[in-house]
Amino acid sequence: MWKKLQRPLTILFGVLVVAFVAIQFVPVDRSNPPVTMDVVAPAEVRSVLRQSCYDCHSNESNWPWYSYVAPVSWLVAKDVREGREHLNFSTWDRYTTDERSEFVAEAYEEAVEGEMPLPIYLTMHNDARLSREDRQVLHDWAQGTTSDRSAHVRGVAERRDAD
Ligand code: HEC
Repeated sequence: MWKKLQRPLTILFGVLVVAFVAIQFVPVDRSNPPVTMDVVAPAEVRSVLRQSCYDCHSNESNWPWYSYVAPVSWLVAKDVREGREHLNFSTWDRYTTDERSEFVAEAYEEAVEGEMPLPIYLTMHNDARLSREDRQVLHDWAQGTTSDRSAHVRGVAERRDAD
């Protein structure tokens, strides 16, 4: 029985090895484009975002070793691409005041609902899990009750001054 299977199994294994090597040559975009304007928020908020959201929602993503191994690399790159498309804390200057307010509210909602950070990400990044305090920080940011009340809105004015 085993004897009979040996040859087909060897061939199958060989095919899998060749396929695995071959897919490593598919290009994967792991670029970190320039930060045009970092999110304007109080320090405690920025710290939470950096710790739990920046790998997918900024241009300062960390690319761990498994992001270099296909097919996992494809999934990581896809999450980063889509995450940045939806919300990018590194291009805050591209958003209007209304959009900023909306993102701030959504960030808190997603966090409270446990939608963000993506659960699959947390399996590899336990330190990105939001604590009660982290959620409170996002809550206060969304309510505009942080020490720096309208920080995200003020960012617009700062930019105008710079122009
Ligand atoms: C592993 C990557 C990843 C991490 C980490 C991550 N996100 Fe996301 N996020 C995504 C992707 C992908 C989408 C778009 C698809 C979706 O909604 O599931 C998204 C969508 C969002 C949206 C919706 C934006 C819109 O236009 O509707 C918000 C808000 C958001 N994320 C907030 C956060 C916050 C806040 C954190 C950190 C606490 C975070 N995300 C961490 C990948 C990530």
